[in-house]
Formats: sequence, structure tokens, C-alpha cells
Amino acid sequence: MTDVKELLLSRIRDVADYPEPGVMFKDITPLLADPAAFTALTDALAEIAANTGATKIVGLEARGFILGAPVAVRAGIGFIPVRKAGKLPGATLSQAYDLEYGSAEIEVHAEDLSGQDRVLVVDDVLATGGTVEASLQLIRRAGAEVAGVAILMELGFLRGRERLEPALAGAPLETLITV
Ligand code: PRP
Ligand code: MG
Repeated sequence: MTDVKELLLSRIRDVADYPEPGVMFKDITPLLADPAAFTALTDALAEIAANTGATKIVGLEARGFILGAPVAVRAGIGFIPVRKAGKLPGATLSQAYDLEYGSAEIEVHAEDLSGQDRVLVVDDVLATGGTVEASLQLIRRAGAEVAGVAILMELGFLRGRERLEPALAGAPLETLITV
């Protein structure tokens, strides 16, 4: 593991039985509070944005906003929020999906993406893959191209990568750390 990956891993806190018994929550707040770690993470994700030729970053509410917004600024490209249902005022596209615990619906402003865009999806954790899968559906329904997906931490045992393979349709899935 590289020094950067070791630094990132050391700043993610495991919280047992949160938000439900049997779930090991990955808490990224110590990483966010450490400027060296947060900068290293932003730089690593911005490099993926450059390598994939992304023209927009889509961040997934909520933790994908925290990671994705500085990546967009660093990469010099726009940031598009994909929000949980009911938060966007304009005309939206909606997609329902299942979470590791519960279910949800996400939305994007339809006017924020067009056929000219190559989109990199940014989020903190890949668990079952349901959230990312729904976001890829939204991006394609908006007419944009998927440049790739960039995630801080992959929970390999939940097999999100396998689930996402059809939805990625050859686009890269880059995860900085796998546990
Ligand atoms: C968490 C995490 C990912 C998602 C991963 O978000 O931040 O977005 O679950 O799960 P999946 O791969 O099974 O879809 P969550 O909506 O729980 O919380 P957040 O609003 O704090 O990001
Ligand atoms: Mg999330």
C-alpha cells in the first residue's frame, strides 16, 4: 500500500453497530479534519478526474458532496449535486435504489447535464453499489456520458464492484482503498 493510501486508511474510523446492529460504519470525519489527509485525498481523486477526461464531477449526497466539491475545484471542472429526493427546486430526474440498510431515491437537475458532458461520480464508500448504480442511470438518462467512478473506500465483501459491472459498461471504477 502506498504512503497516501496508508494515510487515508489511518484516518478512517470503524464504528461498530452503527446505524444498526451488525453494521460496521466507516467514519471519514477524522480524515476530513486532517488537512494533510484531506488534501491528499482531493489530489488523488482530481488525478482520476484528469485521467478520465471528466468535464463534470457528480457528488452523491451527503458525503460525496464533501469529497466531490474540492475535487471539482482542483480539477477545474463543474460540480453537480445528486441529491436525496425532494431537495432540488427545478425539473429533476429521479431514481429509486436500495441501500445497505433501507431504500432511497436520488435526483439531479435535468438541466445540469447534457450530451456534451463526461461525468466522474465521486463518493466516500462503495458498499452494495446501489447508490452509484442509481447515479449512473441518472447520468445516462440526462444524456451525458459516464467517464468513471472514483470512490475513497470499497467494502469488497459486499461485492458492489460486481453489481456495478453492467452499469459501468466499460467505464473505470477507481477505489483508493479496499477493505
Ligand atoms: C452511504 C455512503 C455511500 C452509500 C454506499 O451513504 O456514503 O453513499 O451509503 O452504499 P451502497 O454502495 O450500498 O449504495 P448514505 O446515504 O448512507 O449516507 P450519507 O448521506 O451520509 O452519504
Ligand atoms: Mg453517501
